[in-house]
Amino acid sequence: MDYFSYKHHTLHAEDVNVNDLANQYGTPLYVYSRATLERHWHAFNDALADHPHLICYAVKANSNIGVLSVLAKLGSGFDIVSGGELARVIEAGGDMSKVVFSGVGKTPEEIEFALNQNIHCFNVESEPELERINDVAGRLGKVAPISLRINPDVDAKTHPYISTGLKANKFGIARERAIEVYTLAHSLPNLNVIGMDCHIGSQLTDTGPFVDALDRLLALVDELAGKGIEISHLDVGGGLGVTYKDETPPHPREYAQAIAAKMKGREHLTLIMEPGRAIAANAGIMLTKVEFVKSGEEKNFAIVDAAMNDLIRPSLYSAWQAIIPVTEHPDRETHTYDVVGPICETGDFIGKDRELAIASGDLLAVRSAGAYGFVMASNYNTRCRPAEIMVDKNTVHVVREREILKDLWKGEHKLT
Ligand code: LLP
Repeated sequence: MDYFSYKHHTLHAEDVNVNDLANQYGTPLYVYSRATLERHWHAFNDALADHPHLICYAVKANSNIGVLSVLAKLGSGFDIVSGGELARVIEAGGDMSKVVFSGVGKTPEEIEFALNQNIHCFNVESEPELERINDVAGRLGKVAPISLRINPDVDAKTHPYISTGLKANKFGIARERAIEVYTLAHSLPNLNVIGMDCHIGSQLTDTGPFVDALDRLLALVDELAGKGIEISHLDVGGGLGVTYKDETPPHPREYAQAIAAKMKGREHLTLIMEPGRAIAANAGIMLTKVEFVKSGEEKNFAIVDAAMNDLIRPSLYSAWQAIIPVTEHPDRETHTYDVVGPICETGDFIGKDRELAIASGDLLAVRSAGAYGFVMASNYNTRCRPAEIMVDKNTVHVVREREILKDLWKGEHKLT
């Protein structure tokens, strides 16, 4: 459930008419709803109330400092994948003791930064990474808390680009080698082995693969305990899908309860989750203006002022996101349009074959744009990235100003 709805035929974000936002801040424009973010976070957190747990929001989904600050105030933890994301969490007021650091390629500088911040844990993906963290920790006279990311080899049945738990993927440590690598980690003097983690993919719409992965991890946890290596947390990653069109993913409550049920009797193991999309996607929309309506020989095009640089998911993953009018016109006739941007590429589209009743100058809203939206935006075609707005009931916060051209060539130099 989210807080974007029509009132008197006009789309509102909570209590704010989004027409007013477009008029004041221009388009394309990302608009987030604080109440929706909070509701989604609570759905996870409340479902796990009976088990020791930590929700570590996956910062990559939407790393705007305004968004992070809302979640930090709820007491959220954070899953980061770079020194940059760590810096954002610090800036947003996040609690360092609730930060887990994922990713296959952590640099020595990033490891040092995170060690100095005393984060909760490094989610380690390989033996060379173990050695590197051990070296950096030794140099700093610290002991690094680590977890090993296990590749459980389950098929997440999602888009191949966002499926991560199969043997063929670059992520994690093969299940068969887990005990050996844990033994190595345990023997390294500057490491404290505290956890096990996995992440099998994103936009999963079924609990089955999550539960299968967890079963495999729990079997390993028991095997490890038999060898005298006791861990204190289990991190099941993120990946819960959302409804973009007609997907029917489990509710976060159902998902979290299915996972928590497997953890019964294991109260000594804190359960960590790293949801990104399920918290942020439907807490955001992207507003765009129709510049021209063009009737081609075979197709009609709505040429809008947002493009693949602003929202790349449709172009990159053939992702479908709802496109709705900001003002409903029940009196107008609908036609079928490809909603396309101004970038010089055929792949530059936001949606294809959409039934819309539009005219040039109209505003459209692309739904489910709160996750992997702005964060994946670029400046391709020397386009300024959009502003981002956070609505909180009837209050509007500019959480990121629109870029201006000078921002785009900052640091570039011409030859004389
Ligand atoms: N934890 C780890 C280690 C991850 O790699 C990811 C996402 C998450 C958590 C959060 O997953 P979520 O709950 O958001 O599914 N750009 C793609 C999605 C890439 C996801 C990468 N990893 C998209 O737009 O669909």
